[in-house]
Amino acid sequence: MLQQLALNRHALASIEPAANADAWSTMEELDREAERLVAALRARRSSLARSPWERLSCWLDERVRTDELESLDRPEHPESAKLHQVRLLHVQNLVLRSYPRYRRALEPIVAEARALRGGDTVRVLEIASGDGNMAIAIADEASRLGLPMEVTGSDVVPAYVARANERARSRGSRARFRVIDAFALDAIAPGEHDVVFMAQSAHHFSPGKLAVLIAQAERAGATHAVIIDGYRSARILFALPLLASLSMDRHFTRDALLSTRRFYSEPELALLARTAAPTATVTIRTEQPLTTVLTIAFANKRP
Ligand SMILES: C[S@@+](CC[C@H](N)C(=O)[O-])C[C@H]1O[C@@H](n2cnc3c(N)ncnc32)[C@H](O)[C@@H]1O
Repeated sequence: MLQQLALNRHALASIEPAANADAWSTMEELDREAERLVAALRARRSSLARSPWERLSCWLDERVRTDELESLDRPEHPESAKLHQVRLLHVQNLVLRSYPRYRRALEPIVAEARALRGGDTVRVLEIASGDGNMAIAIADEASRLGLPMEVTGSDVVPAYVARANERARSRGSRARFRVIDAFALDAIAPGEHDVVFMAQSAHHFSPGKLAVLIAQAERAGATHAVIIDGYRSARILFALPLLASLSMDRHFTRDALLSTRRFYSEPELALLARTAAPTATVTIRTEQPLTTVLTIAFANKRP
């Protein structure tokens, strides 16, 4: 219901021609342009709603949408509480089988990147990797299958990175972790990573910031970016907070509700990716009922 695909497609058709590649040249300009375009898309689809069902969907979507920050993103929220929440997220990931699902979603892209590298090791960089369980699961499966693949996880919170490195070492995993701010990807050497990957985090960032992240991944020489996040839907809006409430942790439950309210619709993600990387091939796939997979194949090629 909250995806409003038909309305969004209609609205996109009138927004996208105005979004040309010359609209930005600096990251600040891209940030502003992406914010403008997503706001225009949302306003346009509301103005196109005709039937009572479409009007109800738009009304609900507008009421549900929020910019409110999750506790995880609040500087004043204690680090010990954040670490506890990240641990609960790990339990939720196990219950929802997120690690194998996300790994499978990533596999074809890694295979594509490997082909571009002539079969050489593919270097995956996970952004916003939290306490690192996703990166470890991906690295361990690659080792088990004997795939030429290196996985580096990263997060802006040093305590998560330290814990992830500790866990990787104690499990004998080849995954490694370092502190990286998602919006300072110029900190990584050009061409150091082939695939930039982000799981369950896109909704933490504003449209402008997400566009900047994609553009920076391209500038850092990646051949692909894969962004997987929750599927925006009325069903998930109820189900995820309900599942989270079983943790009996009010911050975790509240964050689950805020996440579902912040999830992007698929046309919004496609618009952001095409604005940030106008020469890339952008693909959006739904893995019902839980996730949206955004794949961006940049024009960067490896020799
Ligand atoms: C919901 S958690 C996702 C954790 C992990 N990807 C997973 O799927 O379990 C969101 C993560 O985004 C990280 N984050 C927020 N702002 C960031 C930034 N500017 N750069 C890098 N990571 C950031 C947070 O520290 C947190 O670990």
